Amino acid sequence: MTLRITAISILFLAIPGLLLIAAEPAADDVQTWRATCQAAMNKLGGELKATLQESLNEHGPIGALDKCSVAATPIAETISTEEGLLVARTSLKPRNGKNAPDDWERRTLEVFEKRHAAKEQIEDLEAWTIITDDEGHRTFRYMKAIGTLPLCLKCHGRKIDAEVALKVAELYPNDMATGFKAGDIRGAFTVKLPLD
Ligand code: HEC
Repeated sequence: MTLRITAISILFLAIPGLLLIAAEPAADDVQTWRATCQAAMNKLGGELKATLQESLNEHGPIGALDKCSVAATPIAETISTEEGLLVARTSLKPRNGKNAPDDWERRTLEVFEKRHAAKEQIEDLEAWTIITDDEGHRTFRYMKAIGTLPLCLKCHGRKIDAEVALKVAELYPNDMATGFKAGDIRGAFTVKLPLD
């Protein structure tokens, strides 16, 4: 046993490449951070879906548009505060400019598109990385793709009712989030979890 540990230490000391590997975060940590991000993301997804469904049932698509336009950001902000992280949604074709991707998010969304084109299931499209800022603070960043369901097409599809289109144009003059079909990637959840 002692011999084996010594042998491993010598290996780590002797080979700089392995030292780098030793500096990587433990796999267990990564799985914990990933689970934390997924929990926040599931909470956001669940609350948004419930809000959307309820307002669609009660007020139809126009009322639901109004509701989503005022409720989506505060819902994400409340969950972020509760969970001690930042959870949001993003897309290569955002409706709300505030949801536009940053560099890492854009690259990740482009990779998701490529993986999807290569027949990977949308449910399997996720990615994470750790970034360190100038002061040495680390952030775990996580993304998971969001698929387009038939229900989404009322407001994000190719053929949208004229009055819905008018309302979207009124609320979001720079809207890019139409022209989707069921089974497309609509966007992704994105989470920033501060580590230290
Ligand atoms: C009633 C209309 C409506 C329906 C139906 C709808 N959305 Fe949206 N969606 C919106 C609005 C409005 C926004 C902008 C919210 C905001 O201001 O942050 C939005 C934003 C988004 C965003 C954030 C990125 C962006 O474009 O700004 C994603 C992702 C998204 N929707 C996915 C979906 C999915 C998936 C479905 C189906 C399950 C769906 N939407 C159904 C109206 C709708």
